[in-house]
Amino acid sequence: MSIRRGPVTIRVPASSANLGPGFDAFGLALSLHDELTVEAIDEGLEIEVVGEGAGDVPLNAEHLVVRAMEAAFELLAERPAGLRLSCLNRIPHARGLGSSSAAIVGGIAAARALVEGSDERFDDLAAYQLAADLEGHPDNVAAAQLGGFTIAWIEGAAAAVERLDTDVPITVFVPPEPVSTERARGLLPETVLHADAAANAGRAALLVAALTGAPHRLISATEDRLHQAYRAEAMPASYQLVRSLRVDGVPTVISGAGPTVLAFARGITDAAPAGWTVHELDVDPEGVRVL
Ligand code: HSE
Repeated sequence: MSIRRGPVTIRVPASSANLGPGFDAFGLALSLHDELTVEAIDEGLEIEVVGEGAGDVPLNAEHLVVRAMEAAFELLAERPAGLRLSCLNRIPHARGLGSSSAAIVGGIAAARALVEGSDERFDDLAAYQLAADLEGHPDNVAAAQLGGFTIAWIEGAAAAVERLDTDVPITVFVPPEPVSTERARGLLPETVLHADAAANAGRAALLVAALTGAPHRLISATEDRLHQAYRAEAMPASYQLVRSLRVDGVPTVISGAGPTVLAFARGITDAAPAGWTVHELDVDPEGVRVL
């Protein structure tokens, strides 16, 4: 194997996890993308970040894209002497839209693109496995890697995934303040009622049907009893928006660990509280790709 000089540009989608009842399992790739351009150079590490997170993310080997690239180079036993990375970030950070998964999946794809012949030793499934290991759970990375609607799970130590096509209208409402996934996960109880677990299992099954041919079921199928209400204290305005849109019949959930609100509808941007950002989006069917 040898190193391509580059530059190569990678496009990687935002993603929404959980979708209501599918906690830590469901993912949906969204038509909001980060772009990374990487180039092999003779020495050193040069990083430029434009857009979301510029000024906040470290411009050194701690940068998440670089860490993911280094993990992939290690598995490929090949790395360039130096790297130039340029990030055009559109996915907001710490809002429940999969920005860290996009960085990890994008970094791994960039490393694969720089190493000639890497596909023989490092296929999409291996990339997904590495991304899930780096992220700590597989739901967002599955959608960022494969696009569409993904159902992810862990089989022993292996990350597994089933990908389905779906085409639904989406609006995301992004609050101005972040909530860390760590804080949101810390609000979850250690045990839940059997009745709540059973309710979520049924709704999650229904959501697979709703997203793949029965959209009139989306309002019932997006009911959750396992995480959203527990997290409301960290994102009260988001929880209130979910409740008020649902009362109006709009299938609406907290996106991932929040605080972004995702509705399966368009034409509702007026519902955004003052100061929030709104995007009307589609499902990204492709996942990460080299441009
Ligand atoms: N399923 C995860 C959670 C998504 O809700 O905590 C966050 O990455």
